[in-house]
Amino acid sequence: MNSCFIISLCLSSSFFFIDILSIEAAPEYLFHDCPNTTLFTPNSTYRSNLHALLSSLSSAAAGSTDGFANATAGQNPLERAYGLFLCRGDLNSTECSRCVATGEWDILQRCPNQRVSTIWYDQCMLRYSNRSILSAMERSLDRVLYDVGNVTDPTRFMQLLGETLNDIATRASAGGSGKKVAAAEANFTSSQKLYALAQCTPDLTASDCVKCLQFAIANLPQGKQGGRLLAPSCNLRYELYPFYDASALPSPAPPPPVPAPPPPAPVTGPKIACVCIACLPPSRLSFFIILSLILPWPHWPWVKAASPMATTVWATGLAVGAPEEFYF
Ligand SMILES: *[C@@H]1O[C@H](CO)[C@@H](O)[C@H](O)[C@H]1NC(C)=O
Ligand SMILES: *[C@@H]1O[C@H](CO)[C@@H](O)[C@H](O)[C@H]1NC(C)=O
Ligand SMILES: *[C@@H]1O[C@H](CO)[C@@H](O)[C@H](O)[C@H]1NC(C)=O
Ligand SMILES: *[C@@H]1O[C@H](CO)[C@@H](O)[C@H](O)[C@H]1NC(C)=O
Ligand SMILES: *[C@@H]1O[C@H](CO)[C@@H](O)[C@H](O)[C@H]1NC(C)=O
Ligand SMILES: *[C@@H]1O[C@H](CO)[C@@H](O)[C@H](O)[C@H]1NC(C)=O
Ligand SMILES: *[C@@H]1O[C@H](CO)[C@@H](O)[C@H](O)[C@H]1NC(C)=O
Repeated sequence: MNSCFIISLCLSSSFFFIDILSIEAAPEYLFHDCPNTTLFTPNSTYRSNLHALLSSLSSAAAGSTDGFANATAGQNPLERAYGLFLCRGDLNSTECSRCVATGEWDILQRCPNQRVSTIWYDQCMLRYSNRSILSAMERSLDRVLYDVGNVTDPTRFMQLLGETLNDIATRASAGGSGKKVAAAEANFTSSQKLYALAQCTPDLTASDCVKCLQFAIANLPQGKQGGRLLAPSCNLRYELYPFYDASALPSPAPPPPVPAPPPPAPVTGPKIACVCIACLPPSRLSFFIILSLILPWPHWPWVKAASPMATTVWATGLAVGAPEEFYF
């Protein structure tokens, strides 16, 4: 495929401020992925199994202390549905189950009649398949999202970012069968602090978790003020502002001596799609206005190293006035 889609998500940051209370009402949708190759017929047994599966995941979320659960539905292996969810490690079960409950109906709207689907929100990830997905690392359908803003000293920033992310990747993977999550803060400049969060589904082995996160780290964009990578088995995010509740996360051990790792490489991995979003400071929540535009892939120099796959970019209010500049 030699063309790609660029979706510009513009937000009006200056008009509609909403308060912290109303953000609780709706989890923030990020992305969904449903390959077209796995359609089921609307009245099939798989459909009813899928509904049973989603409803049992939703109930599991309400009682989950780890922010994770898996489920299966269906007797016949050919029609059985397998699913799981993962909530962001700092959220309590109320927030987690709100997100999973949203995903339960939202995924069916966005991926109608699909045997295999994944949906990501800021607060949780929900996925299902017609094959067993538990304990199987899946990093092939990653999405990279980043803030269009550039950092001031990219070389030093990428060095600091590499060290910080390697540290939390190691700590997250050591999380055992409970939560596999870790966060860290680091001083970038005297006035700017780096915040980072990494998480794996806890069904992964420590070694698969590290592999998944290292792959994510290697595919983050260079020199951007914020970025996230969403994979089915792991995710990570960094920003220059706090975006998680550090008090609700496992407290970091005294910093181990981390050998300086190579800074994250440019996007070269297979099947990477790049997504750019504006990462709003939590204090400036605003409504989103979504605009779309479709541009041909070859006009997009910075993705040339990436694989020939449809690639999605969301630009945002942070890029208002400059989205074209950003794309060309
Ligand atoms: C999925 O199929 C629909 C209808 O056939 C098509 O419009 C859509 O572009 C396909 N999506 C992908 C990702 O191939
Ligand atoms: C899942 O569904 C796809 C598409 O219908 C099918 O090709 C595949 O064999 C199924 N996998 C299993 C494990 O049933
Ligand atoms: C699904 O519906 C079609 C017609 O609407 C029917 O021919 C088919 O047998 C039904 N399949 C099942 C599994 O009920
Ligand atoms: C869960 O977290 C939210 C947001 O921090 C808070 O408003 C709520 O009271 C918490 N619920 C419980 C049961 O702790
Ligand atoms: C960030 O840097 C890139 C490459 O140096 C440049 O093309 C882009 O316009 C910059 N973005 C902003 C928002 O300044
Ligand atoms: C970051 O800077 C603050 C003061 O600016 C200092 O108190 C703190 O120890 C520094 N943290 C690290 C990890 O160096
Ligand atoms: C998967 O779900 C089953 C049944 O709910 C449960 O017994 C098992 O512990 C779960 N496995 C993991 C890794 O959460």
